[in-house]
Amino acid sequence: MSDFLNDTHFERFRETIYQESGINFTVANRSILESRLKERLRSLKISSLDEYHRCIVRDKEEMRAFLDSITTNLTRFFRNAAHMEAFEYYVLPELVAAKRSGERTIRVWSAGCSSGEEPYTIAMVMKETLPPEFTISVVGSDISLKSLMVGREGYYPESRVGNVPEKYLKKYFNRHESGYRITEEIRELVTFDYHNLKHDSGLRNLDVVFCRNVLIYFDEAAQKAAVNRFWDVMGPYSFLFIGHSESLFGMNTRFEFLKTDWACLYRKTTQSAGGTT
Ligand SMILES: C[S@@+](CC[C@H](N)C(=O)[O-])C[C@H]1O[C@@H](n2cnc3c(N)ncnc32)[C@H](O)[C@@H]1O
Repeated sequence: MSDFLNDTHFERFRETIYQESGINFTVANRSILESRLKERLRSLKISSLDEYHRCIVRDKEEMRAFLDSITTNLTRFFRNAAHMEAFEYYVLPELVAAKRSGERTIRVWSAGCSSGEEPYTIAMVMKETLPPEFTISVVGSDISLKSLMVGREGYYPESRVGNVPEKYLKKYFNRHESGYRITEEIRELVTFDYHNLKHDSGLRNLDVVFCRNVLIYFDEAAQKAAVNRFWDVMGPYSFLFIGHSESLFGMNTRFEFLKTDWACLYRKTTQSAGGTT
């Protein structure tokens, strides 16, 4: 056990993090919390954990900076190719068919988008796939302000674009001295927002929600609350992607499990034979 973060402090920070974000710190990642706390205390010149805890409870900005510091932001373009194929070959054609006679906008939310690789991948695939009369709207949201800033700028070093298929790299990225920037055509399809999945996003009528590799950091109660909020903001016929190591199994949600030729995902449908339920 560490002298810096004793059991009482660990419990107090663990509880605060959970209440604020749904992120469930376990004993296994206690050392990560400890090192992030040390960094915050050093940079703010605060000498005790009690004082720092009072600080985050009092100061919204510091709470945000603290939460940012404890998040894991690992991501990449075209992460889980099978998901992107299911999106391109199953979900988008379904939505195009369903919207043939209605409003021709497809709204996608990348919840927990980190530094933007996921929402940009989604926007590029939509641009490449959808008939030109369709309007594309992609929102990327996260609680990591640092990551959102990277996303908004849309610059990525060479090492981060290795996974991008050649045709996309040529068409939707501009070469820069130290890497690439997403073209304006794609950047203007994506909006980045600070949003905590503990709360209502204010978004409505979404056709697709991607929330991949985020729920793994939550406990079951927080996962279920987030998934139920997704249901509430999704349109009557819509789709949910979660990470390939995540599952709604046993969670008793209203989503229907859907196995496509490419990947498994979830569907919301409120249309019954007699109409909308
Ligand atoms: C591992 S990344 C996943 C990024 C992307 N979805 C992907 O699959 O590549 C997890 C992201 O979830 C975000 N996150 C964690 N808890 C969150 C919360 N309560 N609200 C919003 N975002 C959260 C983190 O900041 C982090 O950027």
